[in-house]
Amino acid sequence: MAYKEGGQVNKYIKKIYNGKNLTGKSVLCIGSGLGANAKFLRSLGASVSTIDIDSTVNPDILCDVRDYEFEKHSYDIILCLNVLQFLLIKDIKKILPKILNSGRIIFIQMFDSPVVSWINEQLDDFKVLKYEKWKKLDLRPRPHTHTLVFWGLKKE
Ligand SMILES: C[S@@+](CC[C@H](N)C(=O)[O-])C[C@H]1O[C@@H](n2cnc3c(N)ncnc32)[C@H](O)[C@@H]1O
Repeated sequence: MAYKEGGQVNKYIKKIYNGKNLTGKSVLCIGSGLGANAKFLRSLGASVSTIDIDSTVNPDILCDVRDYEFEKHSYDIILCLNVLQFLLIKDIKKILPKILNSGRIIFIQMFDSPVVSWINEQLDDFKVLKYEKWKKLDLRPRPHTHTLVFWGLKKE
């Protein structure tokens, strides 16, 4: 299976919202990359802010997520897809609680690592809509495969 930017999560969000318009919903895309998710959510009417550390992808907010000042309960949806794996575990442990405090529906995806069990322990306030491990994701041209872990979470 090859990774397609945005695809899986976009389909999942559409399902959660029953294909309804997202006008009035605020969304934060952390490590937005080329912006497939942001583009899709904007096309549904959501108000989307993108954060990325890489200026070449033209994020709305050019910053390191480690420096971003999250405000409590600010977003209807937060996406943090394929970003946390670039951070040290000590940084993930600082950032995750801020993400969980800031969004109502949250999608997180990252490579499997020892921190995954710690993340699962932090989710008491959330209904887990989906938790799955996708095996053998082939990220060519890298010669190895990865297991990705995906959470879809909704604040109880
Ligand atoms: C693998 S891409 C994922 C892009 C998109 N979220 C997706 O799932 O297709 C990782 C993105 O995270 C960004 N990124 C990596 N470390 C970051 C950091 N500390 N703060 C903000 N963005 C970061 C990279 O610049 C890149 O755009």
